Amino acid sequence: MSTESQIAVHWREEEYYQPPAAFIGQANAADPALLEQFREENFPDCFRAYADLLTWDTYWHTTLDTSDPPFWKWFAGGRLNACFNCVDRHLAANRDKAAFIWVPEPEDEPTRPLTYQELYAQVNEVAALLHDVGVQAGDRVTLHLPMVPELPVCMLACARLGIVHSQVFGGFSGTACGDRIADSGSRILITMDGYHRAGKISDHKTKADEAVEAAAKLGQQVDKVLVWRRYPDRYLSDSTMVEGRDIFVDDLLPRYRGHRVEPRSMPAEAPLFLMYSSGTTGRPKGCQHSTGGYLAYVAGTSKYYQDIHPTDTYWCAADIGWITGHSYIVYGPLALGATSVLYEGVPTYPDAGRCWRIAERLGVNIFHTAPTTIRMLRKLGPDEPARYAYHFKHMTTVGEPIEPEVWRWYHDVVGKGEAVVVDTWWMTETGGFLGATLPALQPMKPGSCGPGVLGIYPVIYDDEGNTVDPGSGRAGNVCIRNPWPGVLQTIWGQPDRFKQLYYGRYCRDEKSTDWHDWPFLCGDGAVQAADGYLRILGRIDDVINVAGHRLGTKELESAALTVPEVAEAAAVPVVDELRGRVVEMYVALNPGEEPSEEIENKVTHAIDQQIGKIARPHAVWIVPDMPKTRSGKIMRRVIAAVSNFADVGDVTTLANPEIVEDIRHHVQSSK
Ligand code: WT7
Repeated sequence: MSTESQIAVHWREEEYYQPPAAFIGQANAADPALLEQFREENFPDCFRAYADLLTWDTYWHTTLDTSDPPFWKWFAGGRLNACFNCVDRHLAANRDKAAFIWVPEPEDEPTRPLTYQELYAQVNEVAALLHDVGVQAGDRVTLHLPMVPELPVCMLACARLGIVHSQVFGGFSGTACGDRIADSGSRILITMDGYHRAGKISDHKTKADEAVEAAAKLGQQVDKVLVWRRYPDRYLSDSTMVEGRDIFVDDLLPRYRGHRVEPRSMPAEAPLFLMYSSGTTGRPKGCQHSTGGYLAYVAGTSKYYQDIHPTDTYWCAADIGWITGHSYIVYGPLALGATSVLYEGVPTYPDAGRCWRIAERLGVNIFHTAPTTIRMLRKLGPDEPARYAYHFKHMTTVGEPIEPEVWRWYHDVVGKGEAVVVDTWWMTETGGFLGATLPALQPMKPGSCGPGVLGIYPVIYDDEGNTVDPGSGRAGNVCIRNPWPGVLQTIWGQPDRFKQLYYGRYCRDEKSTDWHDWPFLCGDGAVQAADGYLRILGRIDDVINVAGHRLGTKELESAALTVPEVAEAAAVPVVDELRGRVVEMYVALNPGEEPSEEIENKVTHAIDQQIGKIARPHAVWIVPDMPKTRSGKIMRRVIAAVSNFADVGDVTTLANPEIVEDIRHHVQSSK
């Protein structure tokens, strides 16, 4: 098992918590018959219940087509438009209802509701503009936008035309954005001049210039950069607009006022978007999600697991640049016609009361965030929630394991004992939740996400492919035995890698068209209790989860290796009280190079530059050599153990066991 799982904190089995009666009384999923409906014998037709939440132009003829495994096709033959489902169809009854309430970071800037009607108008105008720029159904468009309403507007405008959007998290560097532009083959980049982040204005347009250059180096030309201005009357960036390439969107839009674009009816299996994620190699994976299956899955899970009702005000404090935001800020809530809050800034700025003031002011009653945010808010303002008069009925946690102690603060203090807590475990590849409790029907257990969600049948395998029985207390690799509508369709441009990464390990028969032979490898280690609840231990691949963000060790190491003095690099996870994990970089220098602070800074700068500040290492250690196996493989596990003050285990079989003591002395005496 990987270093991540090995250093996972082991907590004791915790007690159950029951949902409050008031919650049960109003829940969307209050009838245990729902659990029956999704039993395995009803698979795959159980998922009709999710697809029926959508409006289809043509009903599907085959619920699940398994003829070309593992390229499953859900709702085959069906046609629909995702934008129509998220916007147009709500107009008749809910024209004036807020689809989004945008909260800018500066507290003196007014919050801005965007009604379904306004959203409809804006999406149509942007779609008309995109059409004129020459983008067509099936083309990819890269978005590199912060948390502003223009982001979902652009996503939905793409969806309206059948264009595949690829939003790159705003915090990623220009170079990282350029890599993703090139991989997806986008000719258009949509960006913004700048935005507010932790009290400062971030110049964002400069990243677009870097991105275009980085993409060009990889052979991808960007024809147009569409630039939104955060404030229509001023320009927040130092970068100059490039003649013929860069266009201010807000200058062009008035020409499209009142324009309407027919939503294009797309096959259910047409790709809706790409979301890049890190994996075992240096090259990020473009996870491709479908239109019909994905939208059905996020609508269904938003309804039953987020318990979103038309009257709720729902706030997911994630960033839309991650899958959580796509599924549970934009597509899921909007498919249900809900009101979704969009916050520009960081939750802890200017103080630990900001989130609770937003919740109080807007009447938020469903709150959704990550353990890292919960830990920070708890540390900064443990008693702050009590000072505000908000009431949550439901609170979600997502992105990393949550320690029972942190869970209890979330439940007791943030939730004031009135709310259910739903710990949702899933990943970029899965489109929506995999493990969680049905909030009114299944008790909560701090530290465990819960059982497989409706229609998801998890199993834990050991390395040999034997089933690890629930209740055995043994950890293994968690897999999903069945396909589900939200699962990624492929890795963009790399179908073989897709097949090998997610299905290669446990596929029983490559020729079989029976889904039972194709378990999906989630990439996490887990323990399953006798009650079926899963305790997630962390990634089994070379991925480090920092504050709920997935960073590939290979990407970090490749960045470090661009520093000329560096000969070898290893990125390792170190346990951190607030962020779950942080990254420490170990580097060995080329012969003749002397260790210096300057080289350490160069490594940090290279990572900032190539990935983004979110990946910035917590420490850079220059070491004389890396511990290696006799075949020359760097033993990251051993380095991680040293960095975490943990037991390194037996190192006698290493090629250079003596180096471990050297590193330990150097690192542990400086910490
Ligand atoms: C990895 C996926 C899915 C949205 C955000 C992250 C870890 C995610 C939980 C949870 C324990 C969790 C897993 C997973 N993870 N949710 N509730 N409990 N671990 O998406 O960036 O693709 O990361 O995050 O290790 O594999 P992602």
